Amino acid sequence: MSFVAPSSSTVVKKMKSYRGKIPLSIITASLCSFVFLALLYTERLSFLSSNSILKAGSCARRSAVVKPKRIEKNPDLDDRFEFEPDECDITRGKWVFNLSIKPLYTDTSCPYVERQFSCEKNGQLEFDYRHWEWRPDDCYLPKGGKIVGCLQHQIGSSFRRRPPNYEMPSVGLDSTTSRFDAEVALKKLRGKRLVFVGDSLQRSQWESLVCMVEWTIPPPHKSMKRGRIRNVFKAKEYNATIEFHWAPFLVQSNTDLSILEPKKRIIKIDSVSNSSRDWEGADILAFNTYVWWMIGPRLKTLWGSFANGEEGYEKLDARVAYKIGLKTWANWIDSTINPNKTRVFFTTISPLHTKSKDWGREDGLRCFNETEPLKNKNFWGSGADKEMMSVAAGVIKKMKAPVSVLNITQLSMYRVDAHSSIYTANGGKLLTDEEKAEPGTYADCIHWCLPGVPDTWNHLLFAHL
Ligand SMILES: *[C@@H]1O[C@H](CO)[C@@H](O)[C@H](O)[C@H]1NC(C)=O
Ligand SMILES: *[C@@H]1O[C@H](CO)[C@@H](O)[C@H](O)[C@H]1NC(C)=O
Ligand SMILES: *[C@@H]1O[C@H](CO)[C@@H](O)[C@H](O)[C@H]1NC(C)=O
Ligand SMILES: *[C@@H]1O[C@H](CO)[C@@H](O)[C@H](O)[C@H]1NC(C)=O
Ligand SMILES: *[C@@H]1O[C@H](CO)[C@@H](O)[C@H](O)[C@H]1NC(C)=O
Ligand SMILES: *[C@@H]1O[C@H](CO)[C@@H](O)[C@H](O)[C@H]1NC(C)=O
Repeated sequence: MSFVAPSSSTVVKKMKSYRGKIPLSIITASLCSFVFLALLYTERLSFLSSNSILKAGSCARRSAVVKPKRIEKNPDLDDRFEFEPDECDITRGKWVFNLSIKPLYTDTSCPYVERQFSCEKNGQLEFDYRHWEWRPDDCYLPKGGKIVGCLQHQIGSSFRRRPPNYEMPSVGLDSTTSRFDAEVALKKLRGKRLVFVGDSLQRSQWESLVCMVEWTIPPPHKSMKRGRIRNVFKAKEYNATIEFHWAPFLVQSNTDLSILEPKKRIIKIDSVSNSSRDWEGADILAFNTYVWWMIGPRLKTLWGSFANGEEGYEKLDARVAYKIGLKTWANWIDSTINPNKTRVFFTTISPLHTKSKDWGREDGLRCFNETEPLKNKNFWGSGADKEMMSVAAGVIKKMKAPVSVLNITQLSMYRVDAHSSIYTANGGKLLTDEEKAEPGTYADCIHWCLPGVPDTWNHLLFAHL
């Protein structure tokens, strides 16, 4: 696949940054404690909740010559058209249950799923959540063809431009079904560095992708190196690496290496993460950042560099801090990344499901005991702040480099059933029986079980490559 140019179906824009190394155990441990703090905090952050902005879907703008016919009225009639870039809004659709859909790996078959996301190993006995497939309303994911949608429409038509030398690539789907094809995916990565940068949710997407492809590679031909910040999976025969770089804010903070309690965290909003030097030279960069900005209504921030160091912090509204931090990232991308070489993706908010009232479960315990995706169309709970989303969209829109927005928020928003819940581990340690008995406090409704929802994010990502 040629990275000379981003795919047309992408909002291609760019950015980069990353660096560092942190022992996984520390990451895991700290993240876990963070998660619970975050859960507690977010519970109170109803103000952060939502009502705003980005009008979705101008995807319907079907200007193309080939205008597939579509009848809205009869839901039983399958009149979806084959995916066309710019034609199909991948964020509109539904989850379809199909028992014959099997994940490509499990947390017992793949050695790279960390304990925090290993729901089966952690005692989960109910696996229906693994058999749901995302089905877009307007198009179908063709057998072996291109998938995906017109994500670029999500943030405005200014992202529609197609870079020079653009070639329409084929997609990582096999020829008989719309399932992800590991070997096709690896071929797309041949000779390339794919680097995920961000927080623990981004790490789960990285682990998901590695597990989706690694089983096709015999042991001598692959390797995995995990560090505190930099984690590298190598597929040697393909000369390809799939990496994850820890940078939860994308900009620097005092909590990057050892996680501090929320009150002590200070974010250096004008400095892109130290790990950014390692982002350079990647062929594909995939970023996310959200949940770490949501620990309170105001965040301690710092800019410039003075002798009084961290004492000079200023508390900013979370959205303001997020905007400046993202702008710093955007400027780094625009000034550093060569869009002819590197494709940049930005993944939108992975929604939290910590308030069961959001979906009408008055006596619910967060996402605990949820067994099916929500069916109410366009359900949007407090677990994804629309104003934060529009901040990100606004920053990306103004970027010079093309950035593809992977808009996974709505499709993930339905999946109350797929979080780690009480089948998680905190710092490598399983929840105790006492903790499990209190899902209202301890259930993790931020992260997802693997295999699970992040697999779908990877399908979408590869449809763009
Ligand atoms: C379920 O998935 C299988 C395998 O992908 C496919 O052949 C079958 O048509 C699907 N069933 C439905 C009802 O979509
Ligand atoms: C993502 O899609 C949702 C609708 O599902 C939309 O409201 C939002 O604006 C989109 N976000 C971005 C950054 O494009
Ligand atoms: C492997 O990929 C790297 C870039 O990731 C490239 O610099 C190098 O030349 C490639 N090696 C071979 C043998 O293809
Ligand atoms: C990042 O770089 C800055 C300046 O070079 C340094 O002060 C800081 O300690 C570094 N942070 C980490 C986490 O390495
Ligand atoms: C990217 O490629 C185009 C066309 O080949 C060229 O005009 C442009 O200068 C290149 N940009 C960079 C930053 O190399
Ligand atoms: C979980 O759901 C099952 C079936 O809906 C129900 O019988 C059980 O009481 C629920 N458990 C809790 C703790 O809510």
